[in-house]
Amino acid sequence: LRDNDVQIWLMLGVKSKAMQTNLDPDDRELQHLDSRSGAVCSKSATLQPRDGNEHPRYIELEGEAGSCSVNSEGLPNAGIGLYTDVSVLRRLKDIAVPSGKPYILSISGLSLNENLSMLDGLVKHPETLHYLNAVEVNVACPNVPGKPLVGYDFPQLADVVEKIACHAIFSPPHNVALGFKLPPYFDVPFFDAVAAMLNPQAKSRGGALGYVVCCNTVGSALVVDVDSESTVLHPKGGFGGMGGHHVRLIALGNVRQFRERLDPSIDIVGCGGVSTGEDAFAHILCGASAVQVATQHRVEGAGCFARIAAELQALMQRKGYRRLDDFRGKLRVR
Ligand code: DHB
Repeated sequence: LRDNDVQIWLMLGVKSKAMQTNLDPDDRELQHLDSRSGAVCSKSATLQPRDGNEHPRYIELEGEAGSCSVNSEGLPNAGIGLYTDVSVLRRLKDIAVPSGKPYILSISGLSLNENLSMLDGLVKHPETLHYLNAVEVNVACPNVPGKPLVGYDFPQLADVVEKIACHAIFSPPHNVALGFKLPPYFDVPFFDAVAAMLNPQAKSRGGALGYVVCCNTVGSALVVDVDSESTVLHPKGGFGGMGGHHVRLIALGNVRQFRERLDPSIDIVGCGGVSTGEDAFAHILCGASAVQVATQHRVEGAGCFARIAAELQALMQRKGYRRLDDFRGKLRVR
């Protein structure tokens, strides 16, 4: 698995299950995907292939409690053509997801029109749709120079949510599931405003929106090397998106804030600092239907899924829980 073109999801929910990773046509790499993760999700795709930002653009910082990552990748990806190539998807199904794990296509066009063009292209390829379970629209990438994050530009976000949710691919006869990957928010009026944009698109109100991911990296993190008195990452003046253990509490807060505001038919995928079964438990307790693992996967490899699942199961057993629904969303407030 190359560089940090990698975002792995461990999904433990019943409905939403996904693993996001760089998809490579090389079978050797696909073998790595044969894991205990719940599903496979592509690297966020753009219409055309992109090299991304200059290196160094990823760093991992080890702490006693867990690892933290900062990346400024800038959407390096092979272009949507690869992630929707039927021969690649067929191999992916054979090798990585033999048990019928869902395949989720993540897209992160550099404009609304680019996202809509990618969706238009999918509608024209029914064979690809056969392999595709969901499209996840990433409105949270902080790393493309000159492109402020859509999820923080509310007029733009409202337009994107409405126009994407109305796309034909999410309606009969295609019925592909729709998700949005959100950035972290930090104050009540922001959660209120975003929930107000998302709720009209809920399934229960006749809309297409199946889930949101809370949350992407925390942007504008700056890694400083004291010896050389310089930034560590090269792109964007050294700023990047922070993930891993250090963002765990922010992610839990976002899951909880959105669970309190979103229509119950919109699932929440918890993402941020999941490296143990206890972390996964906390996300689910705050209302997540499933969780994503990124930094820890990079640190540990695909074996992290089986370990985290086993730890979660052991914790549930100690507590006398048999199903995720026994504790999902049931966080007690003192
Ligand atoms: C990139 C960064 C992200 O946080 C993300 O969700 C998708 C892509 C990137 O810089 O490539």
